[in-house]
This record gives sequence, structure tokens and C-alpha cells, in this order.
Amino acid sequence: MSKVGLFYGTDTGNTERVADLIKDKMGADIVEVHDIATAKADEFAQYQNIILGQPTWYYGELQSSWDDFWEDFKGIDFSGKTVACFGLGDQADYSEYFLDAMGFMHDIAVENGATPAGYTSTAGYEFDESKAVTEDGEFFVGLGIDEDQQPEMTDSRIDEWVAQVKEEMGIA
Ligand SMILES: Cc1cc2nc3c(=O)[nH]c(=O)nc-3n(C[C@H](O)[C@H](O)[C@H](O)COP(=O)(O)O)c2cc1C
Repeated sequence: MSKVGLFYGTDTGNTERVADLIKDKMGADIVEVHDIATAKADEFAQYQNIILGQPTWYYGELQSSWDDFWEDFKGIDFSGKTVACFGLGDQADYSEYFLDAMGFMHDIAVENGATPAGYTSTAGYEFDESKAVTEDGEFFVGLGIDEDQQPEMTDSRIDEWVAQVKEEMGIA
């Protein structure tokens, strides 16, 4: 079976933990995890199915290693690939910027040809604004994890999302 490439970045470790949980739940033999701090743009080419993850920092900014990688990221051709995004944020303390970086990441992948996967309902979250929602505000363009305000939801949110993404990626 072809592997899924998961690329994540983290400042304080939360996104790395979520990346590892996704790998375990999806299948440790299927998912190959890459820290974007040391990843190379040509590593994306080998995967048809890709998962991208990052937290939002400092009022709607990219995570620092994703920020460093951003020019390379914008040059990656995602045509023919399915891309599912996840993001970490804090819906109470950063309510006007909740998960913004996930939205930026999703938008570049789609502009560059990706078929998006893993959209989830915004029900169950409370925030003012986000760059990671669909126009009607009904969906996040990926999975939203809030380790600051709703850590007890993380496990079940990942379970549900992994099942959905496997289906959308055609992984049995
Ligand atoms: C100074 C600071 C700024 C933050 N800015 C945002 C933000 O703009 N939007 C958001 O959704 N979360 C924001 N957060 C919450 C982080 O995204 C969240 O704590 C996340 O779990 C950190 O992930 P990491 O440990 O992988 O770096 C911020 C947190 C801190 C401490």
C-alpha cells in the first residue's frame, strides 16, 4: 500500500503529539511523519496522500518552521494529490485568529492543485473569526484541535477524522 506523508511543525510540542496520534490511529505502517523544520520540498513528490499540520502563533501567524519553509511550500505541485490538513489553536485566547495558519496551508495546497480532504464541522467550537473556515462558516478546511481549551476532545476528534480521511483517501 502506498504511504501517507505527514508533514508537521511545532513550537511547543503539541502538534508533534497530535501528529504521532494520527500516525498511530491511521496505522504506524502507513504514515511517514516528517518535521517540516528538516523536510525538503522534493520529499512531497513520493506521496499521493498527504497530511499537513501546524499550530497558529502570534495572532494569526504561521508556526516558525513552516514560516521558514513557506517559499518552498508555495512551489510544490500538488496536482493529483489528496491533501488533508490539521491545525492547533486556542479558540478562547485567540478567538479572532483561531486556526488561521491551517487555512493558509490549505489554500496554498489547493491553489497548487490538491484535492482537499478532511473538512470537519465547526459545531462544538466557539470563536469569533478564522481563516480556516469555508465561506458559509459551517466547516473547517481540516481538523481543528484545541489543546488549550478542549484537550478532552482531542482523542475522539482524531478518531473520527482519521476514519473520514482514510475513506476520502481510499485507504482501507
Ligand atoms: C503567544 C501565543 C500566541 C498564539 N496565537 C494563536 C493564534 O493566533 N491563533 C490560534 O488559534 N492559537 C494561537 N495560540 C495557541 C497555540 O496555537 C496552541 O497553544 C498550540 O497548541 C501550540 O502548538 P505547538 O505546541 O505545536 O506549538 C497561541 C499561543 C500562544 C502562547
